[in-house]
Amino acid sequence: MSRIRVGVIGAGMISQVEHIPNLLRLGDLFELVGVADPSRISRQFVTDTHGVPGFETPEQLFDQRLDAVVIGSPDPLHYEQVLTGLARGLHVFCEKPLCYSPAEISDIIAARDKAGKVMQVGTMKRFDPSYRLALASLPGMAKTLRSVSVEVNDPDAWPFIAHHPYRRGSDIPKELIASAIAKQKDQVEHAIGQPLTDLAFRGFTGAYSSALIHDVNAVHGLLDALEVPDGEIVGAQIFANGDGGQGAVKLLGGQALWTMTHLTVPKLADYKERITLFFDDASLELEFPSPWLNHHPTRLTVKTSDGHTLSTRDLRAGYGEAFVEELRGFWGAMVNGDPVVNRPEHAARDQALLVGLTRRHLAASPAE
Ligand SMILES: NC(=O)c1ccc[n+]([C@@H]2O[C@H](COP(=O)([O-])OP(=O)(O)OC[C@H]3O[C@@H](n4cnc5c(N)ncnc54)[C@H](O)[C@@H]3O)[C@@H](O)[C@H]2O)c1
Repeated sequence: MSRIRVGVIGAGMISQVEHIPNLLRLGDLFELVGVADPSRISRQFVTDTHGVPGFETPEQLFDQRLDAVVIGSPDPLHYEQVLTGLARGLHVFCEKPLCYSPAEISDIIAARDKAGKVMQVGTMKRFDPSYRLALASLPGMAKTLRSVSVEVNDPDAWPFIAHHPYRRGSDIPKELIASAIAKQKDQVEHAIGQPLTDLAFRGFTGAYSSALIHDVNAVHGLLDALEVPDGEIVGAQIFANGDGGQGAVKLLGGQALWTMTHLTVPKLADYKERITLFFDDASLELEFPSPWLNHHPTRLTVKTSDGHTLSTRDLRAGYGEAFVEELRGFWGAMVNGDPVVNRPEHAARDQALLVGLTRRHLAASPAE
């Protein structure tokens, strides 16, 4: 077995709560060489808590002997950091959204192919054991599909990570923050290809690209298993000051409709995330817990009906954790050449839909 020498870029919430402890837990597969973060507070906390060396810049980390890098930095930095990692001959795992535009993701695909390395995206739901079981348990087929519904109400992480050791750095140099903001503005304008309202900007970067992206990625996998091709966007609204994002996609020429809504409910310490597929005579529902509640199983329910006889099955797939399984998958792809489950090609397709929803919102509500 090969032990992969890995570095982590960005030692913020996702890295402190998930990637760093999970890489250490998978110590037979990974050797965590160090973390890079401009915040001295964050990297010192990681060093004190886990004994992992900290570096101020990604370049200092890249100068260590590495096989791979895990990127958990702010969204607008992903593009250049992924390209640098691949150019340095490293395998790269990067958090979602990989980039804001399919065009940037095309650059990454070309760089990956040139480097001949693994490039995996952190849309971890595809590694959820219940999601995998759902793919194998679909109770219908394309010709009986009627609707797909996605409903997410999310207070964000705070109620679910209070018990974890985590420290937020408040000492990031102002010029780095300003530079990331400028990059984000530029990347988003490029992605959407037209001027954005403040509301559309917040909705595209927040509700759509940061949150609903997980469900878009998961539904795309389910539609692939049913051999349902990409549909046509027929509605989209960004609402609640950009904390809410909704969309509707006509599938199979109108035989089925996919509706999706994400809303951040910042002060409600409750979480709901549900994906339901309705067929003529059956349904499949996945109800996800907050992703931060590790090893808490996703509920998978399949209902089938024969006249008035309704049969309901709760399917159990074990207690595996998607955030851990995606790292195992990354390792398997690097060491054994296993297929990469979350490829940049998938991210490009997800992002194309989210860009399309934002344009649709702007077309319907140009002043908002
Ligand atoms: N898969 C998931 O469910 C999930 C959940 C949360 C966040 N994320 C993603 O993870 C990424 C990080 O999110 P977060 O919530 O941890 O944010 P965060 O703000 O807590 O962490 C980002 C870290 O990056 C550091 N940073 C800033 N500029 C940097 C630079 N130039 N180089 C290196 N590091 C830099 C910051 O100091 C901070 O520690 C985002 O892309 C986010 O979308 C994914």
